[in-house]
Amino acid sequence: IRIFVPDDSAARSVGADEVAAGIAARIPSAEIVRTGSRGALWLEPMVEVETPQGRIAYGPVTPADLPDLLDALPSAGPHPLRLGPPEDLPWFADQQRLTFARCGITPPLDLAAYEAHGGLAGLRAALGMEGAAICAAVLDSGLRGRGGAGFPTGIKWKTVHEQSAPRKHVCCNADEGDSGAYADRMLMEGDPFLLIEGMAIAALATGATEGWIYIRSEYPEAIARMTAAIEVMERAGWLGEDLGGSGRAFRLRVRRGAGAYICGEESSMLNSIEGRRGVVRAKPPIPAIAGLFGEPTVVNNVLTLAAVPLILAKGAAFYRDYGVGRSTGTQPFTLGGNVARGGLIEKAFGVTARELIEGFGGGTASGRPFRTAQLGGPLGAYVCDEQLDLPMDYEALAEAGAMLGHGGITVFDDTVDMGAMARFAFEFCEIESCGKCTPCRVGATRGRETVEKILRGENVAANMVLVEDLCELMRDGSLCAMGGLTPMPVLSALRLFPEDFDRAPAPVTEHAAE
Ligand code: NAI
Ligand code: SF4
Repeated sequence: IRIFVPDDSAARSVGADEVAAGIAARIPSAEIVRTGSRGALWLEPMVEVETPQGRIAYGPVTPADLPDLLDALPSAGPHPLRLGPPEDLPWFADQQRLTFARCGITPPLDLAAYEAHGGLAGLRAALGMEGAAICAAVLDSGLRGRGGAGFPTGIKWKTVHEQSAPRKHVCCNADEGDSGAYADRMLMEGDPFLLIEGMAIAALATGATEGWIYIRSEYPEAIARMTAAIEVMERAGWLGEDLGGSGRAFRLRVRRGAGAYICGEESSMLNSIEGRRGVVRAKPPIPAIAGLFGEPTVVNNVLTLAAVPLILAKGAAFYRDYGVGRSTGTQPFTLGGNVARGGLIEKAFGVTARELIEGFGGGTASGRPFRTAQLGGPLGAYVCDEQLDLPMDYEALAEAGAMLGHGGITVFDDTVDMGAMARFAFEFCEIESCGKCTPCRVGATRGRETVEKILRGENVAANMVLVEDLCELMRDGSLCAMGGLTPMPVLSALRLFPEDFDRAPAPVTEHAAE
């Protein structure tokens, strides 16, 4: 019998390795197949057993469950943890998995399984096309950058395609520094060939010969998995000096970050890859014209590149049919924080935050009333209950003063102190600022200090005005999104939850009186 156990970091952090070892020890005839995670983190470790009718899932399985589960597993028999076919669970059935279609199903480094599940079809199609036609197909699909800015990918690629230069690069930004975001990690650990395929297509489209995947050092498994996947693809002739028989080189390698959030900003990342300090470069020139080593460079996020193979395989119209307005396709959302059923949910743009948080997420994990959610990572806005019916698309969120960012959603119940969260937003910027421009370097520290005064009840009205002023200055005067977006969580917390800033003046302590 074949039994599938995830080999994903999130599943391993809750005991997947122990569960796999326990099953192997007690059912020696079983073939244990390690896969990525399907993304239902609330059910991890989720174990699946192969039957003639398909896979049957059990979860969440702890090593303590094994003694009595082992009788049920070989025959996929009844057990309190039996979930049935995973694809029939509403949590999965209600999703639209395009990018994460294979994740959790195939063994990550099995190229034959990848191909059997639709892999390489996009790259094969691209090999028969001119670079300009590939750029046009990506533009026609409406694909926009999933790092957060939502810039049309086809335009970016076309810009690089049109540069005549002896050497061009494709850089994948896998720094994924946002707290609450883990889609890039899951994809790299669970379906690494998909990212490589997307990068190889980008190389064919733009004429790049050098590829770089910049992965944060906090993701050691993703680094190992991507490195191993590159070796497999090289051996199979899909990378190296002759990309899939095209006669063109595409040399791909992994670069490890050193733990700075700002290296997720594209120009800092380029500096870091070059071996320099990760500080932001002034733009222009944009990387598409003068990027890595001053040469034309495509910089895309993991999810952007991973969306491309399907577009080439099934056509731009297939992809464009998902989503709303100018936000086409699907977005992997990562649901976390105080939520009952956290995990990765891939849905077409236009799904509401309420459907994600209440429908998929099942409300708060604590069972207490929902109070707020932060959309789009630590630089994203807090939203209140009345805003949850907003469609999740780039334009609708921007109009509401929020952003999608990298798709992270962090949920809080009514015990959250929004004064502390506003303070934290400034503190985060203070710690992570690269220090290049004054509004961010100095503003973050002054902002934290001023919020602290408000929270101590010192000159609350005057300090509120100061914070608003400072936020305006940071938004308009910062060189990059780090300083420019920090006002978003601060101001949304102030405006939506003013009661959390309305503190009584702190009592004068004996020490202070001295
Ligand atoms: P941006 O709007 O300046 O640029 C977006 C992308 O388009 C960049 O790659 C840029 O080089 C490219 N681009 C712009 N004009 C172009 C042209 N004419 N031709 C070709 N390429 C062009 O945004 P930036 O500063 O790269 O990112 C800011 C965004 O990042 C924010 O809106 C925010 O949502 C997001 N963000 C994401 C985070 C994460 O961890 N993923 C963290 C913080 C912010
Ligand atoms: Fe550096 Fe902050 Fe200025 Fe960005 S906004 S360049 S992180 S100092």
